[in-house]
Amino acid sequence: MKTLHFLVSLFLPFFFLFSSSLSQSHLPKQCLDDQRAYLLQLQHHLYYAPNFTFSSKFELWDLNTHCCSWEGVTCDALGHVIELDLSNRNLSGSFHSIFNLHYLQHLNLAGNNFNTTLHSYGFDKLQNLTHLNLSSSCFYGQIPVDISYLARLVSLDLSNQDSCYLRYYTILNPYNGYDLLPYELERPLKLEKPNFKTLIKNLRFLTELYLDSVDISTQSTKWCTTASLVLSNLHVLSLSNCGLKGPLCSSLSRLSFLSKLIFDENPISYLPPNFLEISSRLVFLSLMDCNLSGHFPSEIFLSPKIQSIDISINEFLNGQLPEFSSNNSLQSLSLSYTNFSGKLPESIGNLKFLTNLELDDCNFFGPIPSSIANLSHLVNLDLGGNKLSGSIHSSLFTLPSLKTLHLGDNQLVGKIDEFPNASSSLIQELSIGNNYLTGPIPNLILQLPSLERLYIESNSFSSMKLDMFVQLKNLKGLDLFNVSLLIEGNNRSLTFPQLESLSLSLCNLTEFPEVIKRQDKLISLDLSDNHIHGVVPNWLWKSTLSSLDLSFNVIDFPNQLPLTDANFSFPMLRELNLRFCNISAFP
Ligand SMILES: *[C@@H]1O[C@H](CO)[C@@H](O)[C@H](O)[C@H]1NC(C)=O
Ligand SMILES: *[C@@H]1O[C@H](CO)[C@@H](O)[C@H](O)[C@H]1NC(C)=O
Ligand SMILES: *[C@@H]1O[C@H](CO)[C@@H](O)[C@H](O)[C@H]1NC(C)=O
Ligand SMILES: *[C@@H]1O[C@H](CO)[C@@H](O)[C@H](O)[C@H]1NC(C)=O
Ligand SMILES: *[C@@H]1O[C@H](CO)[C@@H](O)[C@H](O)[C@H]1NC(C)=O
Ligand SMILES: *[C@@H]1O[C@H](CO)[C@@H](O)[C@H](O)[C@H]1NC(C)=O
Ligand SMILES: *[C@@H]1O[C@H](CO)[C@@H](O)[C@H](O)[C@H]1NC(C)=O
Ligand SMILES: *[C@@H]1O[C@H](CO)[C@@H](O)[C@H](O)[C@H]1NC(C)=O
Ligand SMILES: *[C@@H]1O[C@H](CO)[C@@H](O)[C@H](O)[C@H]1NC(C)=O
Ligand SMILES: *[C@@H]1O[C@H](CO)[C@@H](O)[C@H](O)[C@H]1NC(C)=O
Ligand SMILES: *[C@@H]1O[C@H](CO)[C@@H](O)[C@H](O)[C@H]1NC(C)=O
Ligand SMILES: *[C@@H]1O[C@H](CO)[C@@H](O)[C@H](O)[C@H]1NC(C)=O
Repeated sequence: MKTLHFLVSLFLPFFFLFSSSLSQSHLPKQCLDDQRAYLLQLQHHLYYAPNFTFSSKFELWDLNTHCCSWEGVTCDALGHVIELDLSNRNLSGSFHSIFNLHYLQHLNLAGNNFNTTLHSYGFDKLQNLTHLNLSSSCFYGQIPVDISYLARLVSLDLSNQDSCYLRYYTILNPYNGYDLLPYELERPLKLEKPNFKTLIKNLRFLTELYLDSVDISTQSTKWCTTASLVLSNLHVLSLSNCGLKGPLCSSLSRLSFLSKLIFDENPISYLPPNFLEISSRLVFLSLMDCNLSGHFPSEIFLSPKIQSIDISINEFLNGQLPEFSSNNSLQSLSLSYTNFSGKLPESIGNLKFLTNLELDDCNFFGPIPSSIANLSHLVNLDLGGNKLSGSIHSSLFTLPSLKTLHLGDNQLVGKIDEFPNASSSLIQELSIGNNYLTGPIPNLILQLPSLERLYIESNSFSSMKLDMFVQLKNLKGLDLFNVSLLIEGNNRSLTFPQLESLSLSLCNLTEFPEVIKRQDKLISLDLSDNHIHGVVPNWLWKSTLSSLDLSFNVIDFPNQLPLTDANFSFPMLRELNLRFCNISAFP
């Protein structure tokens, strides 16, 4: 007997090893009849609704196969459904039968088009749930108290229901979906009754909490202290646009695992005095548009762990960039629209992992450090809207990963040198407008193979001709405002096959450039502030146009505008500016 007991205890661990590998093995899992029946019921009550109305039945699953092999379904070794992932499928309808799948541990319904409240479901029936993701699926109203009984939850994501509604309004109107979004749908879910404290008080295993765009505005500032006391395992706290006021609390420092803190668009105004301690653990910090003012401690930029910092759109926030050492991990740094000032340190070249650097619309001055040309992973570099001076070193154009380069609205001077070889450049967007640049545009800029947007307005470049840009076959946007432009002859083959937006404002034009005749994708055309005389040719009235500016020209409209002519249609037209045109003959 003793021997037997010994043997059993010897083999038991092996047995468990074997059985746990069974659950992930390739052996066919049994599909239990009840589980299959609940899934079929679910399939019956859901429907496909890409435009938020019934489009077709939801027929994802092949009835001739095992329910455990169905897409989005995962079973345990005994055939119980333990995971259901129906994310991003444009589903609508009701999903009550999910709540009979009692063994469920992971439920993901994110990115669908439900447009319903969360009441009446009884989430507390899923006592084994560890991961619940209902983000961006058009759920609205109170968050039900049943979710607070899911004591095993490790990850809870109820975020961004607003972006689901934005999807809907963008289908309705691609141009101004955001303007149509009703105010009450900017924070469709609410935490009032139950409040934030009641929701989280049992959820002590939570490691991730995403409640972005949930309305928590009626909560007192205590929410922060409560969270710090209860959620001691928290790694991620994401509460953008929750209507939370008041400073972040010092007790956040108790969350010793906190690595990601996202708090965008809450007017918290002040950082707690121990913010350095809190941030020293962070990998990801985002405090965009938080009404922050005063001085931002630059030590945070030096924290060896931090990979991403976004404190943009805090216009009264002051600060300077520190000297960076080479053991820095920063990948993304955004200080746009703050009052950061001073020079950009040469040591910025030590940030070797940087992919995104947004320092636009601040108060930086002095030269662009040449060491930036060493940042080989940089994809997006935005230094526009500062007081940067000196010249543009052409080594910036040869950064191997760079896709956008914005240097406009500064005090940059001089000639841009030619640079070695543009053929492998990935640059798609280049803006250098509103500086004091002189000389010719380098030929290599005119050969950037991927260039889609080129903004070179208001400099002192030598005269240009439109033909110069003809090699830029992917050009979608070209801004030549206040550029000395020579329109000579008429190159009948000149065309920009992808061009959508063109500004030739303040270019001393005396006639309509004929190249426009051959552009059939033009959405926005600005010919304002020229000296164009005469009648608007019919070919200018393009049905693709959404915005047309002819203001401040000496144009005659001897007949009616074609706007009322049945031969013309402008389904896209949103803006038409004819101010200070000679429209005396206007009907
Ligand atoms: C969902 O709908 C959108 C908009 O109608 C569409 O772009 C997308 O491809 C659809 N996705 C699926 C998985 O059907
Ligand atoms: C959804 O709406 C768009 C735009 O109105 C339309 O082009 C598309 O065909 C619609 N799709 C379905 C599945 O109804
Ligand atoms: C949770 O799962 C366990 C097995 O892991 C099971 O025995 C139990 O019944 C489940 N709980 C509920 C409420 O179904
Ligand atoms: C929830 O699902 C969405 C859509 O698949 C995904 O983008 C998001 O990261 C998920 N949330 C969590 C916490 O995993
Ligand atoms: C959502 O549901 C409400 C109430 O049933 C309805 O008025 C609204 O039009 C729906 N919105 C969408 C995007 O389907
Ligand atoms: C923004 O912060 C200032 C103090 O710096 C405060 O007076 C103001 O009320 C705050 N605004 C909001 C919307 O909280
Ligand atoms: C912005 O920064 C400049 C330069 O450092 C400083 O003179 C000014 O007072 C700051 N403005 C605000 C509102 O803090
Ligand atoms: C690395 O970072 C730590 C902490 O910021 C700093 O003390 C140390 O000097 C740095 N080492 C190097 C080689 O720069
Ligand atoms: C670029 O990095 C190399 C190697 O680390 C260094 O020698 C060089 O000085 C750096 N260039 C600039 C402009 O900082
Ligand atoms: C430019 O670079 C490409 C790829 O890196 C190479 O194939 C080509 O020969 C180079 N051209 C010149 C003129 O150096
Ligand atoms: C046009 O550019 C010149 C420099 O070439 C500049 O002096 C002038 O202010 C600019 N005009 C406008 C309206 O921006
Ligand atoms: C337009 O012509 C005027 C007068 O000749 C000249 O002063 C101005 O610089 C020209 N503008 C541009 C952008 O070339």
